[in-house]
Amino acid sequence: MYKTSYPKGFPKGFLWGGATAANQVEGAWNVDGKGLSTAEVVKKASERHQMSMSDVTEASLKEAIADPSDKLYPKRRGVDFYHHYKEDIALFAEMGFKIYRFSIAWSRIFPNGDDKEPNEAGLEFYDKVLDELEHYGIKPLITLSHYEMPIALTEKYNGWYGRETIAAFNHFTEVLFKRYKGRVPYWLTFNEINTGTWGFHETGAIDKDLPEKEQLQIRYQALHHQFVASAIATKQLHQIDPEAKIGSMLARMQTYPKTPKPADVRAAQLEDDKNLFFTDVQARGVYPEYMNRYFAENGIEIKMGQDDEKIIAENPVDFISFSYYMTNVTAYGEKGDGLGNMSVGGRNPYLKESDWGWQIDPVGLRITLNEMWDRYRKPLFVVENGLGALDKLESDGHIHDGYRIDYLRQHIEQMKEAVKDGVDLMGYTMWGPIDLVSFSTSEMSKRYGFIYVDQDDEGKGSLKRYRKDSFYWYKKVIANNGEDLA
Ligand code: BG6
Repeated sequence: MYKTSYPKGFPKGFLWGGATAANQVEGAWNVDGKGLSTAEVVKKASERHQMSMSDVTEASLKEAIADPSDKLYPKRRGVDFYHHYKEDIALFAEMGFKIYRFSIAWSRIFPNGDDKEPNEAGLEFYDKVLDELEHYGIKPLITLSHYEMPIALTEKYNGWYGRETIAAFNHFTEVLFKRYKGRVPYWLTFNEINTGTWGFHETGAIDKDLPEKEQLQIRYQALHHQFVASAIATKQLHQIDPEAKIGSMLARMQTYPKTPKPADVRAAQLEDDKNLFFTDVQARGVYPEYMNRYFAENGIEIKMGQDDEKIIAENPVDFISFSYYMTNVTAYGEKGDGLGNMSVGGRNPYLKESDWGWQIDPVGLRITLNEMWDRYRKPLFVVENGLGALDKLESDGHIHDGYRIDYLRQHIEQMKEAVKDGVDLMGYTMWGPIDLVSFSTSEMSKRYGFIYVDQDDEGKGSLKRYRKDSFYWYKKVIANNGEDLA
């Protein structure tokens, strides 16, 4: 609608906060009836830039299941949020958080994935987390599945490749929606759902050693099952708790053409479509036409259940969320070098990079926000963004992380520009407000937090929490609703 004015900054009630995932913070992997999860069989990467993702094989899985210790498996330790949640939430409150995004570990509630009854002790833990958040007036945003699921489902159904996993997941979601009715205003279904196209184990819980040739088919079939499960969860929530809202979650990878050559521009457009495909299905409720050709040319044939398309069409998400860390570059007929950046895209010579080789592109966030708003016209939520860096705890207990402040300031500035451009943005939950175990490398030394946790890659340390310089900076940003970012 035409207006002579435009927003001058973040809207009142903008949801400032931070985001974590159960498997990266909680620890307490074998207490109170919890089952083993897919995250807890992944070892630390052997070198800094290397990813431990998808290193899991049938043999390593067997070895991990038989191993009763947390020594080799950092996600069994997390940062012991399970026993420190009061202290950690108090620190979030001190920064003025309006919202805290966290995930519920499926393996805490249904240790075997498809148990008849939920594990009451697991639910009680999250009851207490919610109590604590309510005490400080912090709204919860819960991810239903964040790179973690009961390992038993891998063994029984080959994870999301098996259609049976849909029913197991939707039993889990129904239990949560009923239990937390009226207490949780925002939910997300699958974290970074698109990573299922490159990580088998972490995202799909698919672990049988599979022939190379069949891999694309298997990945997209598993993803289809996740689309159906996500639509069913959306339907359940709308019936059980009509006030609550549910969103999709994408690892957004904006792709730029390497040159203005039309063929390169088209190659970038195709890459972008392949990234947005997931949100297209979850927000628009249909498989987009452009994927038909991709599927046919790659021998992918999705087996649909009788009502799948109807369920997906009738239950689009209420809002769209995404993580934003980097952009990619592509050229026609060229494969990216894939270094550092998580996807296969190439490097951009105009951008700097993090200690882990992830290229830093604040303006890309504005571009992405504008594009996504234009495409979907649904509220957007940046639910992850942050800098993994090597921090130093000084002898006086300070951590001077000016580089993190710079990174966040530049991204928030661009977010503000997008809001001025007219984008409907609900909030910003930066990734890892407290140091946690890295998803891709399982290192502790890749730190994102405003809060430093004294623990090293081997799990040694006091677990004591320290406020970094960025803690005080973010507190100020929240207090003035992002007006002053200095
Ligand atoms: C996202 C994930 O991919 O990026 C998080 O949703 C993850 O779980 C974050 O931690 C940062 O990645 P990493 O590999 O640096 O921990």
